[in-house]
Amino acid sequence: GSTLQAAAAETNRYFGTAMAAHYLNNSGTMNIVNREFNMITAENEMKMDAMQPNRGQFNWSSGDRIVNWARQNGKQVRGHALAWHSQQPGWMQNMSGSTLRTAMLEHVTGVATYYRGKIHSWDVVNEAFADGSSGARRSSNLQGTGNDWIEAAFRAARAADPGAKLCYNDYNTDNWSHAKTQAVYNMVKDFKSRGVPIDCVGFQAHFNSGNPVPSNYHTTLGNFAALGVDVQITELDIEGSGNSQGEQYRGIVQACLSVARCTGITVWGVKDSDSWRASGTPLLFDGNGNKKAAYNYTLDALNAG
Ligand code: G3I
Repeated sequence: GSTLQAAAAETNRYFGTAMAAHYLNNSGTMNIVNREFNMITAENEMKMDAMQPNRGQFNWSSGDRIVNWARQNGKQVRGHALAWHSQQPGWMQNMSGSTLRTAMLEHVTGVATYYRGKIHSWDVVNEAFADGSSGARRSSNLQGTGNDWIEAAFRAARAADPGAKLCYNDYNTDNWSHAKTQAVYNMVKDFKSRGVPIDCVGFQAHFNSGNPVPSNYHTTLGNFAALGVDVQITELDIEGSGNSQGEQYRGIVQACLSVARCTGITVWGVKDSDSWRASGTPLLFDGNGNKKAAYNYTLDALNAG
């Protein structure tokens, strides 16, 4: 294939990007999105604060701009994210206990119902585990409603949109030997054994010198897949430049292609200048929309699969 989406499709995988609503104002960026990618994640526009700014009042406008563009152009959509400790609307941030549990479940149900049938995969719960060596849940207002808040969110999402794949999504879960990776693995294993509806695990894959691409990445992806879930690389970006950055992108693609249930890769933005990282050049296109070495390595690795 001569584009990322075409090359990925040759092994029945997708290749996606995060897309912010402001991309729609930039025809150069949108030409790249349309040409290269066939899976779209809203970078911020479908998060809790955007979707339900006031309790019980949903605002679909920014999410719809992205979902409608995607569907009109033959793209699929990853929904991001139904329940998260971050980017909660102000009214939710100071809630706790059963009031918050109810509000969270109403949010999950409301958003997943509205977009029913239009979402390939939902990040049902995002970033619920702590960093470091504890393997514990992240402390948050949602965690404070009880350890079962995650499975409650998954059950609500399944009821609202039975056709969407339901994912748990997190970062720093790439290295198999890390406590956080093991903790998420144990949760997924438990969910599968008890019939909690989970279909996929998303690996955000934000890499830099402090969190390098691990050499055991294929082991991590393979071990999760062996639990009976799909795995997806959901927010890929890698700090660096030139061939060394390209080699790291190649390693990620090779790891995904080596695991049958690794169903797709999404990069977290199009041009370096659009990245959430204030400085740096972690993406596949430079600020002028030119293909970087990282792009060529990624495309070649997809085609080699
Ligand atoms: O829209 C407002 C604007 O009105 C305001 O003037 C401006 C002033 O700060 O803020 C704007 O909102 C910002 C928003 O991005 C849109 O640009 C927020 O401050 C900023 O916090 C927000 O950052 C996003 C971040 O998530 C928030 O947690 C990034 O764009 C987004 O790339 C990033 O994405 C996350 C994933 O959702 C989860 N995994 C990690 C990933 C990277 O952090």
